[in-house]
Amino acid sequence: MFGRLNHVGVATPSIVRAREHYAGLFGTAAVGEPFDLAEQGVRVCFVDAENTQIELIEPLDDASPVAGFLARNPAGGQHHLCFEVGDLDAAIAQATAAGARVLGSPRIGAHGTRIVFLHPRDMGGVLVELMEAPDGGH
Ligand code: CO
Repeated sequence: MFGRLNHVGVATPSIVRAREHYAGLFGTAAVGEPFDLAEQGVRVCFVDAENTQIELIEPLDDASPVAGFLARNPAGGQHHLCFEVGDLDAAIAQATAAGARVLGSPRIGAHGTRIVFLHPRDMGGVLVELMEAPDGGH
């Protein structure tokens, strides 16, 4: 089953400007350092909210899927929700049995554990990331 909300993904055309914005809202200590996920074509930066995180995402180039999102939403915006799961393979089997399409195969995500995305058309219009929790889930 799906577990806790790990983060909300927010696409932005500028992580530099987005970090300033979120530092003003949550304080500078809550805003992490950006780093590149070259395999996924994005630079990311996590912001700590009290009960979850916000994942700022900026495309590294025009080939990134996030570049297409920003073409449709130039100011940026909410991109995906990430839920923790204890066993990613079991969660994929569950989601697939329920009719959800899995986008690609599992890969290593921004938190260093395996992740996969589910098609928004099968998830009520929301792009959903499933992330294997480091401690085996909740
Ligand atoms: Co994410």
